Amino acid sequence: MPIIGIDVEKCTRCRKCIKDCPTQNFSLGDNQEEIVYNSSRCILCGHCIAVCPENAILYKDMKDEPLDFKESQNPSTLVSYESLHPFLRVKRSVRQYQSTKLPKEILHKVINSMRYAPTGANMRYFKCLLISDDDKKNLLTDSIINALESRDTRETFQNMRTRGLDPIFFNAPHILIFYSKNPWDTRNVTIAMTYGMLSAQSLGLGSCWIGFAHGVLQDHPAIARKYTGIETYVLGVMTLGYPAIKYYCAPPRPRIEVKEL
Ligand SMILES: Cc1cc2nc3c(=O)[nH]c(=O)nc-3n(C[C@H](O)[C@H](O)[C@H](O)COP(=O)(O)O)c2cc1C
Repeated sequence: MPIIGIDVEKCTRCRKCIKDCPTQNFSLGDNQEEIVYNSSRCILCGHCIAVCPENAILYKDMKDEPLDFKESQNPSTLVSYESLHPFLRVKRSVRQYQSTKLPKEILHKVINSMRYAPTGANMRYFKCLLISDDDKKNLLTDSIINALESRDTRETFQNMRTRGLDPIFFNAPHILIFYSKNPWDTRNVTIAMTYGMLSAQSLGLGSCWIGFAHGVLQDHPAIARKYTGIETYVLGVMTLGYPAIKYYCAPPRPRIEVKEL
């Protein structure tokens, strides 16, 4: 169990860990002085580590280091609304890519951002398959098009293929497929992919959700197995690469209707 307990020398009994632990694993001991940790319901969310001003939480094997907030930074306003809001608005679903492959470290920067997305009960089972090989991408594209239910779309896309176009992945240099042994991981994958796409944008990259591929690979596990080797549930698919397009403004979007009770 990675959270081992509390360093009693450092602990000032401020009780922040008691208040913030979502699964009530911290409590006052019988003597009403020491704080006691009970691991039985711990979901490894690390809030105790994050909230402890004395760095008194003992842990091991968390497979990551905490991110220290520098004195001068107020973490909640690291990015202002004034810069975040336009950043969110200018994000486009990119469907035109340069053929250049991304350096490994850039790819991993994007994937690394996804690990910090929230997940239900902090469970982190999903994995990522990265396809960068052109022949493999082409085989996958054709197998997806051939399995499309709508005859009209299928024929339109097959025609586009004869003209060297890729209506599924847009000849993007990289395809990322997220999969898990748990079908309910789909919400976790959706949020993580959103983190990844925003992270990609901050690196000057383009990305796009590929619902067409997700739908086919989800409904046809045999195709997923044959062309991707994935034996479990496919929960999300996206493209990634340097954009070969420039946008000059962010398009308008309808308001979200808000009802108040
Ligand atoms: C769940 C989901 C699935 C999508 N699937 C596809 C897809 O298969 N092909 C595609 O070209 N765009 C796909 N998109 C992108 C949307 O079409 C896009 O978000 C929409 O056109 C608005 O454009 P914007 O993202 O640039 O604002 C998908 C988006 C989402 C959220």
